Amino acid sequence: MKCRELMHLDNTGHQGINSIFSKAHSADWDIDRDVDWSTPVEPGDSLVDHEWTAFGRTQTFKALPENVRHYVTRRGLGRVLNILQVGESVAQDICAKLALKLRHEDHRNAAVAQAMDEARHHLAYVRFIEKMGEEPEDIDAFTEDMFDQLLATEDPRRMIAFEQFFLESMAMNIFEGIHDHATNPLLRDILRFITRDESRHMGFGVLYLADWMKEASPEERIAFAQSWLPRILFTVTDRPGPLMARQIVRRIDEAGHPDAAKLAPALLREQQELNEQDHALLLSGQKPSHLLKSARNVGLLAPEITDALGVSDHPLVHAANQTEGPPAPA
Ligand SMILES: [Fe+2]
Ligand SMILES: [Fe+2]
Repeated sequence: MKCRELMHLDNTGHQGINSIFSKAHSADWDIDRDVDWSTPVEPGDSLVDHEWTAFGRTQTFKALPENVRHYVTRRGLGRVLNILQVGESVAQDICAKLALKLRHEDHRNAAVAQAMDEARHHLAYVRFIEKMGEEPEDIDAFTEDMFDQLLATEDPRRMIAFEQFFLESMAMNIFEGIHDHATNPLLRDILRFITRDESRHMGFGVLYLADWMKEASPEERIAFAQSWLPRILFTVTDRPGPLMARQIVRRIDEAGHPDAAKLAPALLREQQELNEQDHALLLSGQKPSHLLKSARNVGLLAPEITDALGVSDHPLVHAANQTEGPPAPA
């Protein structure tokens, strides 16, 4: 990079993308002043209600002693917060790289503003985990591999598609879930602020890609959709199954409950019914998915694309196309 190349940086003039940088300032929050870190995080408190945790809504789980339910829920929360804290550092790396790779002023500004947000999110999660006072479970191999793939990405459009569009849209439902179920006020406050920031980040991904789609050739659009839409359709229908059941049973066992393994078939059977109910809510639009909405807003669900990919009759494509309204970065 030479000074000459920075002398007259082009701005795309995209109003939405330019406004993301302004909003990063007007909607800014201070990690020390705006959050009350003196709020206690009591040992043994589940910190979110039990319904938040996988299998937490099954009758079998509800019948467990309270201390077991607390333990299982808290360990599940710790595991997710640990994934989130490292995910924030990954996002910070991606944004730092993007700031160097993107050549338009407004794109660079959005990336730099996001890098600062991600640094603050990382700090917030790490501080909260410290207050929990226990070593969280390690992150799983699948998530670690996904983060490694993202970190190895060099093409800026793919980086934005992976981080801001795919991962942050997916994570929005996770943030909202923790926020809505949090019983600890500090956790709820942190998640409220973070969700507001993340909505801007997701907004950048959607606006950037929607803009690119307008300029791209039909072949490029279809190739791009091919690399993301099948993954999106899989992700939004992915629900707690045998793998997650093994984790829950292990935690029930750690909590000292006798014969934890014997609970697995009932947990799975009851969860399957809940999964079907959740799927029906998704299809009816009563429990929407940010990921699907982002896919639609980028233009991945346009007829030319869904026809080319052979998913025009997919019930989720119908459901997403029925929901109204453009993305609204906070
Ligand atoms: Fe973040
Ligand atoms: Fe983010």
